[in-house]
Amino acid sequence: MTTRINPSILAADFANLERDLGRIATADLVHVDIMDNHFVPNLTFGLPMVERLQQVSPIPLDVHLMIDHPDRWAPGYAEAGAFSVTFHAEAAADPVALARRLRDIGARAGIALKPDTEPEPFLELLREFDQVLVMTVEPGFGGQSFMPRTMPKLARIAEAVRRSGLDVWLQVDGGITAETIGIAAEAGADTFVAGSAVFGGDVPAERIEALRLAASA
Ligand code: DX5
Ligand code: ZN
Repeated sequence: MTTRINPSILAADFANLERDLGRIATADLVHVDIMDNHFVPNLTFGLPMVERLQQVSPIPLDVHLMIDHPDRWAPGYAEAGAFSVTFHAEAAADPVALARRLRDIGARAGIALKPDTEPEPFLELLREFDQVLVMTVEPGFGGQSFMPRTMPKLARIAEAVRRSGLDVWLQVDGGITAETIGIAAEAGADTFVAGSAVFGGDVPAERIEALRLAASA
């Protein structure tokens, strides 16, 4: 089974981002949370930060856009060199057109679903996406508790991906810890975002390995 661990720099030390990126070099991708204070009630950083992170990060960037009007803004993140760009289904005017544009630029295209968003409209469109992100907390803040009630939805998406034969990655984001990661893996996730669980300890690399072990336990 594939397990990807994507630490979220939302939980890193913003005054020492380059140092903290070095501490997670054994992870698969670095998850970069873009929040605009409109789609979610919190504000982080934007394109100039991603352009700079792209220059110094030892691992590829997995950009998660929690913003309004991703149709307008997401392509810029792909042009900046992000490995994957994930936008929210609830915010996009034309998710398929946007995903195609991201792929044309050379990024993997991801679609994210808030905890109460049904996946069904997208299950027939899986070929348009490289990854689906199931939010396991309400987007906006790190350090929240994992919502087990999102797992039946994740399992439905996993089943649709399996039936399609497509290589669509299934990502979970929010409240992922050594205690909860196994539940999400069991439901079919292969890519795990973790902020506080990685940066909350003294040695992030050890936390990453503990998450890998717990995912396959
Ligand atoms: C929440 C963000 C997450 C956040 C996860 O809206 O999308 O990526 O950083 O943080 P933890 O792992 O602390 O729940
Ligand atoms: Zn995120």
